[in-house]
Amino acid sequence: MEAMIANAVRLSFSENVQPESLAKTSFMYWAMQRPAFAQAHAARQLYVLNQLNVMRPGKGSISTVNEFFGGVGIGSAIVQKLFQPTRHCVFEVDAQCLEHLQRQSFSPGLTVQYGDAVDTMLECGYADLMFCDFPKFNPLDISGWQAQLDHVFGLRPKAVYLNDTSFWSRHLHQERYAGPLNKAALRSDGEYIMAYSEKMRADYGYAVLAVAIHRGASFLYVPALTVAHPTVTRIKRPAAEEAMRIW
Ligand SMILES: C[S@@+](CC[C@H](N)C(=O)[O-])C[C@H]1O[C@@H](n2cnc3c(N)ncnc32)[C@H](O)[C@@H]1O
Repeated sequence: MEAMIANAVRLSFSENVQPESLAKTSFMYWAMQRPAFAQAHAARQLYVLNQLNVMRPGKGSISTVNEFFGGVGIGSAIVQKLFQPTRHCVFEVDAQCLEHLQRQSFSPGLTVQYGDAVDTMLECGYADLMFCDFPKFNPLDISGWQAQLDHVFGLRPKAVYLNDTSFWSRHLHQERYAGPLNKAALRSDGEYIMAYSEKMRADYGYAVLAVAIHRGASFLYVPALTVAHPTVTRIKRPAAEEAMRIW
């Protein structure tokens, strides 16, 4: 399988990988066996990261990036296209994803290495963009990643990407998800998004600039003095296919 990300960066998937042998927990499985899911995931990342260029031109460019969950490199390719960073550190723990990432033709400033986010998010140095595309994350996971989030936001990056893999189930867990976001209940997607923004603003001084939704949700946080309504998009199939062309 070949893919073109954001009409700019090509990813080649090995012909030797037997998709049926991949664990469903591996992002490689999703990329190769559920390409429509991967395309929507590409569009989510592309939309929110591009908002940095659209909504904050001149607020300082992104020239250094720490990417803690590399996956199959869709997000890495988007970062390369949008920002051309001089230093882009990509970490991953899955052996197949690592081997795949190392085979791609990214720019020389991009390095790929094994790194468990439990440690890398806790020990990293400053980067303009902290890219945290968790394999699983919802409000109930905040406390488990507290030390890592404290460190990442504490470095005062220009932007932080965080996702929520459970966004689709928000309506099923209104009270459970509300507690960690300091609310009694979250009755709509809008309330859920604003609750994240208010919590991160109170804890770290960052608010949500942009959100993209397709089952899960991608959030882009920037330093903010107040919480404003972010730009929100729901990813539809044409945008997904445009973000990641597959053949
Ligand atoms: C949602 S995917 C990232 C997708 C990536 N943004 C892309 O576009 O290809 C999450 C990735 O995190 C990896 N992962 C899971 N636990 C990890 C950990 N503790 N440290 C680093 N990576 C981890 C998984 O193997 C998976 O590839």
